[in-house]
Amino acid sequence: MTDTKPILILGGTGKTGRRLAERLTAQGVPVRIGSRSGSPRFDWDVPATWGPAMQGVSAVYISYYPDIAVPGAADTVGAFARLAVASGITRLVLLSGRGETEAQRAEEMVKASGADWTILRCAWFSQNFSEGFLIESLLAGKVALPVGTVGEPFIDADDIADAAFVALTEQGHVGQLYELTGPRLLSFADAVAEIAKAAGRDIRYIKVSHDEFTASVAAHDLPPEFAWLLNELFTEVLDGRNETLTDGVQRVLGRAPKDFSAYAHETAATGVWSN
Ligand SMILES: NC(=O)c1ccc[n+]([C@@H]2O[C@H](COP(=O)([O-])OP(=O)(O)OC[C@H]3O[C@@H](n4cnc5c(N)ncnc54)[C@H](OP(=O)(O)O)[C@@H]3O)[C@@H](O)[C@H]2O)c1
Repeated sequence: MTDTKPILILGGTGKTGRRLAERLTAQGVPVRIGSRSGSPRFDWDVPATWGPAMQGVSAVYISYYPDIAVPGAADTVGAFARLAVASGITRLVLLSGRGETEAQRAEEMVKASGADWTILRCAWFSQNFSEGFLIESLLAGKVALPVGTVGEPFIDADDIADAAFVALTEQGHVGQLYELTGPRLLSFADAVAEIAKAAGRDIRYIKVSHDEFTASVAAHDLPPEFAWLLNELFTEVLDGRNETLTDGVQRVLGRAPKDFSAYAHETAATGVWSN
């Protein structure tokens, strides 16, 4: 690496950003974490923090928070991309989602910004079960969601970080959209059963109605946009539209994606699902 400028990793302490930061650092590529705990601080809700965070960086990994499916995300991501390009930072890698109107709008915004873009359009992360909102229910031994038999090709965050690392450090990925899925479709009940088996625990999966789910989300006193998001993801996006496997991991990494059972066994061994 001749370029010693850091790569700015938005969400650099989150599920994919943290893993990308580890990979780049291990290869001697300097990184700057872009988040509210970063230095300088980066906050999506405070545009005045964006310029200082991107000063002197060579490229940006854009992971939006809370979710690129939330209305308004595309305009915010678009404004960020245009500021980056105007500041001379053209290399942008966007973490996106599948089958989500707002996510696909954000992709178009980044493409239209004039950036040298790469898009990683990802399925549900396996790590939602261990580093996200589902961990609490798994520990309680009961996961209740308004999702039936629809299959989701859960993708491991390690595969996403590997893809982002390659896109940011090797030639040939500008202008590429990689749709990243795992190698197998699993229902949420299947996924919970695999985790229960790997963790050696009794964990039940219950399909609830949308109304029951909405009531339980409301009872948890979550921020309104998070409650909206969960309903959107479970009632709209998980309608079968994403029930397909892709060759994205193979295309970008030249190998197969990690299977959910490998994720479940590795993660169970950390003790995160033991109570
Ligand atoms: N999870 C999935 O299954 C999935 C699937 C496809 C696409 N995606 C997309 O991936 C992106 C990240 O989702 P995730 O679930 O993996 O979250 P995550 O990256 O684990 O989110 C946490 C990160 O966001 C940062 N953060 C929180 N509030 C922030 C703010 N106001 N400004 C700047 N940074 C902030 C946190 O750091 P600080 O606390 O230090 O600020 C942390 O680095 C989203 O855009 C989502 O739509 C997710």
